[in-house]
Amino acid sequence: MNRFINKVALVTGAASGVGRATAKQMVQEGAHVFGIDINKEGLQSVADDLGDQFFPETVDIRDRKSCHEAVDACVERFGSLDIVANVAGVVRSHHATDVDEDTWRLIMGVNLDGMFWITQAAIPHLKKSAGNIVNVASNAGFMGQAYTVPYCAAKGAVINMTRALAMEYIKSDIRINAIAPGGMKTAMTENWSAPDDIDFELMRSYTGFRGMAEPETAANAICWMASDEAGRCNGSILSVDGGLTAA
Ligand SMILES: NC(=O)c1ccc[n+]([C@@H]2O[C@H](COP(=O)([O-])OP(=O)(O)OC[C@H]3O[C@@H](n4cnc5c(N)ncnc54)[C@H](O)[C@@H]3O)[C@@H](O)[C@H]2O)c1
Repeated sequence: MNRFINKVALVTGAASGVGRATAKQMVQEGAHVFGIDINKEGLQSVADDLGDQFFPETVDIRDRKSCHEAVDACVERFGSLDIVANVAGVVRSHHATDVDEDTWRLIMGVNLDGMFWITQAAIPHLKKSAGNIVNVASNAGFMGQAYTVPYCAAKGAVINMTRALAMEYIKSDIRINAIAPGGMKTAMTENWSAPDDIDFELMRSYTGFRGMAEPETAANAICWMASDEAGRCNGSILSVDGGLTAA
């Protein structure tokens, strides 16, 4: 498929997992991709893999000014902006009473603030290109999950932020959607650690029946949502979780 010929995409979290898989698929389908991540080495390895169509930019998306500068740098480099994939995210697992201020700010800063700062900076450019945004939420945005209260709060906010943005720009040509994946085999889950004394019974309802997916399953959904094939989707939240949230 060549759905992204002559398109410019900005992808956050591009160094790893879903962001990396999304950047790869978009490049393979013709896009120029401006890949943002806090992980410089990871970004460089993606650049080595994808070649000239991928440009790496090390950015901490928790910082508003850095996000605006990154969007400007993307447009300066490639001349326009058609697609934003807000993929970067972090999770931590704690008893709610043990969440300290730094952890709360980290989870909100990466999963929610950064997504909003990138979006805010991108909208004027997307208005010119009739472009679109795909945010990565999670099944955790729909379900109450024990031991990841800040993450659930941030992902729930991502879902309603997506809908609110879609409404605010509904008279323009911009589309703003989200996907909500379930568990995938990425660095996020490989490095996941939880307090020793958690009650696994509480987690049974969201471990699902179909195991962990590959990050490409979410990347495929992001690419479809970002393509003209999804032209009628706006303010949509697409679950990509093997039925986890169907119950
Ligand atoms: N893996 C899962 O099971 C799962 C399930 C549902 C939703 N998600 C969501 O999918 C998205 C991608 O996660 P993943 O599984 O690919 O994880 P990942 O850890 O492989 O990738 C996340 C990327 O975000 C980057 N990042 C972290 N903090 C950043 C910051 N301050 N500024 C810029 N970049 C930063 C990381 O360096 C990393 O490259 C996240 O939004 C995550 O919440 C993941």
